[in-house]
Amino acid sequence: MRSGSRVWMIGIAAAIGFSSCLAPAMVAQGMGLAQTPPMGWNSWNHFACRVTAADVRSAADAIATNGMKDAGYVYVNIDDCWQGQRDKDGRIQANEKFGDMKALVDYIHSKGLKAGIYSSPGPQTCARYEGSYGHEEQDARQYADWGFDYLKYDWCSASRVYQPDQMQAVYTKMHDALAKTGRPIVYSLCQYGLYRVWAWGASVGGNLWRTTEDISDNYDRMSVIGFDQNGLEKSAGAGHWNDPDMLEVGNGRMNADENLTHMSLWCLLAAPLIAGNDLSKMNPYTLAVLTNKEVIAVDQDAKGIQGRRVAEEGPLEVWAKPLADGSVAVGLFNRGESQNPVSVNFSDLGVEGSARVRDLWNHKDRGELDGHYTAEVPRHGVVLVKVSR
Ligand code: GLA
Repeated sequence: MRSGSRVWMIGIAAAIGFSSCLAPAMVAQGMGLAQTPPMGWNSWNHFACRVTAADVRSAADAIATNGMKDAGYVYVNIDDCWQGQRDKDGRIQANEKFGDMKALVDYIHSKGLKAGIYSSPGPQTCARYEGSYGHEEQDARQYADWGFDYLKYDWCSASRVYQPDQMQAVYTKMHDALAKTGRPIVYSLCQYGLYRVWAWGASVGGNLWRTTEDISDNYDRMSVIGFDQNGLEKSAGAGHWNDPDMLEVGNGRMNADENLTHMSLWCLLAAPLIAGNDLSKMNPYTLAVLTNKEVIAVDQDAKGIQGRRVAEEGPLEVWAKPLADGSVAVGLFNRGESQNPVSVNFSDLGVEGSARVRDLWNHKDRGELDGHYTAEVPRHGVVLVKVSR
């Protein structure tokens, strides 16, 4: 599509009343949790192994006071590198950077937030800290005693001790251990999308599962991961979500348009929104990207449908997510290297005739339009709208 010309994109599907199918096995532990995609913060993308209890407290302070809590962010999740040694009875201890885990979790809870922790089914985590291998029940009990509400369980060194065909049983084992504690704990599977996890993640009790290898803070990696999610939408729904990894918004290497693309795409995908930046040093622009309520409403929509691509032409793509009120959220994406007009044909959304269009990032009505809407979209950018009959 050349700048200035108007060429219709090829509609991939006419109507998009696509639905999510519930996973077969309904399991006790995760039931009722994550009815909408989990929202929160995780230490890994910014702090990696340098993370300390003080960083986690600062993140909780920020969420509670800067508008993120009001926008729906609730989980404050510690990733890898918190683990110390096991005591003589095999109980896992936090390392010296974390000290009293119960006090940290109590602090997070005192802010009206929830707390998350991280382990691996293998002997070691990805950063070579102590894993849960052989201690699954004991660790689940410890997490519950500390008061944790969320576990990310990361395959890592499990491949040293298990065969691929044991993976589902291994994830079920920790699910059952969590269930036994009696504490509701969101269960986040992390095995990088191996063996089509989206086809069985819910049946082993997962509330979310990573569908890809790690994201990094650059447009190429983020966009390959995000735009590759097309086709996985049938596996997502209330209580069980595809997870294309945590947000890199505000980590510094993506420009403003690229950050908007990242956030818009994750919301259209009904992806978990787990911020991964340093919340204590965020600029107002980053905070605005993370907390735009009309945009977050797309992610958190009650219908729980993961959006998909409905039209594309070269680097220009139109993605759509049907919403509970009968409207459709639509992303007009430009993955190319120069500004271009991008059009959505309402018939590709299952909408005949005219429709109202509202720009969600800018909170502006664009009017009642006949048959289509066209917007100029910058390089690597997006225009995110809601189309209502
Ligand atoms: C893996 C995961 C990351 C992070 C690191 C921690 O790479 O995919 O999200 O948890 O391990 O070591």
